[in-house]
Amino acid sequence: MDIAIGADHGGFQLKAILLEYLRKLGHAVQDLGALDSEPSDYPDYARAVANALIDGRAERGILICGSGVGASVAANKFPGIRAAICHDTFSAHQGVEDDDMNVLCLGARIVGPELAKDIARTYLAAAFSGAERHKRRLEKVKNIEKEFMKV
Ligand code: RB5
Repeated sequence: MDIAIGADHGGFQLKAILLEYLRKLGHAVQDLGALDSEPSDYPDYARAVANALIDGRAERGILICGSGVGASVAANKFPGIRAAICHDTFSAHQGVEDDDMNVLCLGARIVGPELAKDIARTYLAAAFSGAERHKRRLEKVKNIEKEFMKV
């Protein structure tokens, strides 16, 4: 799968670990920064990952910051982005199956590398169920976005 990954300084180290792991699993992972551990701003990486999805350069995104909070707040401002923090594997697959989550957010100060690998692998292996009730709910989410987006 084509994946875009980004992290601020808080997630920089975990990003490197996940990059190597996910590439070994056979995923095509684009590293959209940060490229060093100097303090940086999570909205910049949320923008880069969101744009990769919006432009069709990636099917799924992964964002990492210290807590996962800033990354998810920023990512959800972009149209068509459904980002969530998942620090357990149940949310990581159910978030895709039911809610069509397309950006996984992780807090590198909360989860260790082994759990983060399991979460990322589970997220990428999951697919949206397409169940009518979930499509109906997602349509309502899209309508909220349309209602408030200034074009
Ligand atoms: C940066 O110190 C930290 O605030 C950031 O990585 C993230 O945790 C924000 O939610």
